[in-house]
Amino acid sequence: LDEAETLSPLLGASGDLAKKKTFPALFGLYKNHYLDANTQIIGYARTKMDQATFEGHISKYIKLKTDEDRQALPKFLKLCSYQDGQYDKDNDFQQLEKSIEKLEKASGATARLFYMALPPSVFIPVATSIKHNNYKKGVITRLIVEKPFGMDLESSRKLAKDLGALFTEEEIYRIDHYLGKEMVKNLMILRFANVIFGSVWNRHSIDNIQITFKEKIGTEGRGGYFDEFGIIRDVMQNHLLQILTLIAMEPPVSLGAEDVRDEKVKVLRYIPPIAKNDVLLGQYTKSEDGKEPGYLDDKTVPKGSKTPTYAAATLFIQNERWTGVPFILKCGKALNQQKTEIRIQFKDVSGNMFTNLARNEIVIRVQPNEAVYVKIMNKEPGLGMKTVISDLDLSYSSRFDNALDAAWKIFTPILKTIDQGEIEPIPYAFGSRGPHGVAEFVAKHGYERSNQE
Ligand code: BG6
Repeated sequence: LDEAETLSPLLGASGDLAKKKTFPALFGLYKNHYLDANTQIIGYARTKMDQATFEGHISKYIKLKTDEDRQALPKFLKLCSYQDGQYDKDNDFQQLEKSIEKLEKASGATARLFYMALPPSVFIPVATSIKHNNYKKGVITRLIVEKPFGMDLESSRKLAKDLGALFTEEEIYRIDHYLGKEMVKNLMILRFANVIFGSVWNRHSIDNIQITFKEKIGTEGRGGYFDEFGIIRDVMQNHLLQILTLIAMEPPVSLGAEDVRDEKVKVLRYIPPIAKNDVLLGQYTKSEDGKEPGYLDDKTVPKGSKTPTYAAATLFIQNERWTGVPFILKCGKALNQQKTEIRIQFKDVSGNMFTNLARNEIVIRVQPNEAVYVKIMNKEPGLGMKTVISDLDLSYSSRFDNALDAAWKIFTPILKTIDQGEIEPIPYAFGSRGPHGVAEFVAKHGYERSNQE
């Protein structure tokens, strides 16, 4: 769709997903110039609201960090309009069609992206209404569907079949927003572009893998939706499992969507259904100080509901690479912190030369503050041979508050030596590769210089 000017009817525009995620993401695209300036976004939902209320609704979660952001917001809002209507009424979709055509004329848009920020119960009525009223020959049409794709295997198959009867596979996009997160996208690079990780990425070296999703917020009025699904469908079965497949899959033939999908599917097929003993569930109650409501206090949650808001489950991948390595998935709402993290824990070192050994770990923090660090054993400074665990930080942004202090500790002695004139500087020419002797200096440690240097 790169070349097409797009027009996006956003169905479910008054809902939680649209407010918290979709509109802030669209604004992010807009301000970074990824959205064509002529793009038009039409919000559509059952709630009646005027333009000003709609703008207030969709701006609520848009973070304005800079002056540029503040200037961009009113321009972005000009691209957005709102229309109310039912999800199964041809008449209402005809009204939508009129608005679409008017905007298409004015903007020259040639592609329609129907974004379904909707509960799955209305996916099919909406897709049917679109097909009957807003589907035109010669106009590129795409249907973007947010998870959850059904309630279980059967309903998901039915959903796929029903959608497939209305739109072609090429026209349907299925979205898991976790796949758009920087650190999730980084997983393939980390694994397949680094020899040092690639060679230990298996059951011979790895003891277990934990993928954790923690949220501080509860259901916050979203209980009606949530209660129908529970945390496993809401988060584990999609977001966490997607992360798992990226960690566990074999290298794909290429980065092409189909090659990657094929490898992901293979991993999933090696995972047997989760055993009862391998699951732990929870549901949150009031906070200790009584200030935060329990799950059952949410008025949109049915009385006495047993829906889990926390789940831990252990999965096994029964293939050559992973047999015997537990993948522990944990997710929950209303917890002590907000964090999504992957922990790859390595096996114990064999032999007992040292006491107090901790395991090596690769930690990939998806959010907040994306980071990658490796926990390794070091000698504790001093006379003995005590081991101490330290973090090898591979983060984009530093995790250390007192990094400055530590850096000075490293550099101060040598700076003193230099200040006292004890090291003679070697002159080298402006624009050259540096002083003679550098190559030999590094080579004596067995280092091979790469071509790029
Ligand atoms: C959504 C779930 O898919 O992901 C929500 O439906 C959850 O319950 C959200 O809060 C978390 O996404 P993020 O990007 O805020 O971690």
